[in-house]
Amino acid sequence: MGPVARKPLMVGNWKMHGTYFEAMQWVQALSYQLDLADYDRVDVGVAPSFTSLRSVQTVVQMDDLPIHIVAQNVHWAKEGAHTGEVSARMLAKLAVSHVIVGHSERRRHFGEDDRMVNRKARAALSDGIVPIVAVGETLEEREAGDAEETVGRQVSGALARIPSDQVARLVVAYEPVWAIGTGRHARPSVAQEMISHLRNRIRSRHGEAADQVRIIYGGSINPGNVAALMAKRDIDGGLIGGASLDPGTLAACVKYWT
Ligand code: PGA
Repeated sequence: MGPVARKPLMVGNWKMHGTYFEAMQWVQALSYQLDLADYDRVDVGVAPSFTSLRSVQTVVQMDDLPIHIVAQNVHWAKEGAHTGEVSARMLAKLAVSHVIVGHSERRRHFGEDDRMVNRKARAALSDGIVPIVAVGETLEEREAGDAEETVGRQVSGALARIPSDQVARLVVAYEPVWAIGTGRHARPSVAQEMISHLRNRIRSRHGEAADQVRIIYGGSINPGNVAALMAKRDIDGGLIGGASLDPGTLAACVKYWT
């Protein structure tokens, strides 16, 4: 079998930025700068806060935009006494197609571990939402030579008990912690090396699903570095934080090949 063509995925992660009104303006402004040829080449998504999801859904559906609505978090339970949490079913009703699980900010500040990330990923899949499983090593782990082991363990933990046909559909985001929000992106060769390692690790357990799973890079992506990163064979897109808050800059990242 020849190489599998994986469509790139570019997601703007707005983190805790923007009111619902600003989020509506951003998604509209983004859509003005993209055309059908862009959406043909790249799957485009935005990840607003929970409070903006409904408004973004309204814009996306009213204007019939091919933009994926991505949530930033989900709880693993179907429902219950979990004050402050949001279930996959609630997200699915808002036309959310993807959800980020295991972002390093959540691992660091909210104690999310691999087991929780795995439960979140499985909950998302059971409601038809594609998890974007975020993994990445700290600077200390990289300097100690532990990067591959750390990130490999995070991926294996997150994918535990997920059947290979579902693994094939999901997205892994390699986001080295030292590159997030620092303006210091990973060198393309470094990102490629890790992502290829992750793909091999997934292959050892899930076979050909590894050729279909999209593995994207995140960490200080901007219009100036996106093309070099995306040129790498195993890098299937980007998760873009700071640079995505300006719709023009996010659009420029989506149009990285032009
Ligand atoms: P950044 O964030 O682009 O601001 O580095 C990426 C992320 O955290 O997803």
